[in-house]
Amino acid sequence: MTEITGYDTIRWEHDKVVLLDQRRLPEKELYLTCDDYRQVVEAIQTLAIRGAPAIGVAAAMAAALGALQSPTRQVQEFQRHFQDICQVIAGARPTAVNLTWALKRMQALVAAHLDQGIDELKQLLVTEAQNILREDIAINRQLAAAGQGLIQEGDTVLTHCNAGGLATGGYGTALGVIRAAWEKGKKIQVIADETRPILQGARLTTWELMKLGIPHTLITDNSAACLMAQGKIQLAVVGADRIAANGDVANKIGTYGVAVLAQYHKIPFYVAAPLSTFDFSLSEGRQIPIEERDGREVTQIQGLPIAPDGCRALNLAFDVTPHGLIAGIITERGVILPPLPKNLEDLRTNMEES
Ligand code: MRU
Repeated sequence: MTEITGYDTIRWEHDKVVLLDQRRLPEKELYLTCDDYRQVVEAIQTLAIRGAPAIGVAAAMAAALGALQSPTRQVQEFQRHFQDICQVIAGARPTAVNLTWALKRMQALVAAHLDQGIDELKQLLVTEAQNILREDIAINRQLAAAGQGLIQEGDTVLTHCNAGGLATGGYGTALGVIRAAWEKGKKIQVIADETRPILQGARLTTWELMKLGIPHTLITDNSAACLMAQGKIQLAVVGADRIAANGDVANKIGTYGVAVLAQYHKIPFYVAAPLSTFDFSLSEGRQIPIEERDGREVTQIQGLPIAPDGCRALNLAFDVTPHGLIAGIITERGVILPPLPKNLEDLRTNMEES
């Protein structure tokens, strides 16, 4: 399942999970091999693998790995054991809903096949995890095709964080939309926000854009306003970690600021995400749990201090962009336009009916 860009974000190989260690990019392309589900949990927590859809795939594969590790031969006991494993995986990171979405799908599979033997159940789970990966890549291609028409020949597009192949099973969401426009032959430019503190934009988005040959410029996060004021950006597109029923979007810290700037400068601000990122159980963005990470990610860069010893730092990993700032949400079912609360309600009804 290697992408044409020559790397796999994550793959299942000989009953092990193999993932590209994103902590080491762009210097080194190293793969981590996990034969214990707890290693995958650690990889998610330490951002060796990150990005909402990729976290979903990793969670499913971790669950499959955990199932293979279960020693019991008794189906009810296996189900209980599997639920415990899924609970551990669910605690890896709180904001990206794709993680719990994938685990619910794996648990539903077990519940629906309790009449099968243990070995068959384990095999079903392994296949399901691989299906989640394959489907994610296909969905990204669909949503990218649906969204690329928003980008015109000659546009310069700003993106924040990394919502590319590395953040998904492959191809990408926001970066997938940009990539699809480029593959259509449109001559476009990308502005990549560096995305403090973990620098996903500087380390990962530019790495992907270089591999794809798409012209781009890296900027510090605080340069976006200036470039927008100079008329140098025509459109912004970002990914999402969780989207509430009313269209409020949780994404990487700094996204809300980009959306406010875009509205002030009358630049359309789009979000690209698969339906697995929607959480219709939450009516609005304020209810989305926001991960707070270790302050050392702010006071240090790759282990080197950039603040006085003992300095307190607040490290919110995500923020929430209110739906009123969003020009549309690009999904595999097309672009959902404002009014988002009403149109997402219709989408939800459609999804329940089909
Ligand atoms: O902390 P990260 O790197 O997991 O945050 C990633 C993002 O915020 C992405 O924009 C989001 O998950 C969408 S990825 C297609």
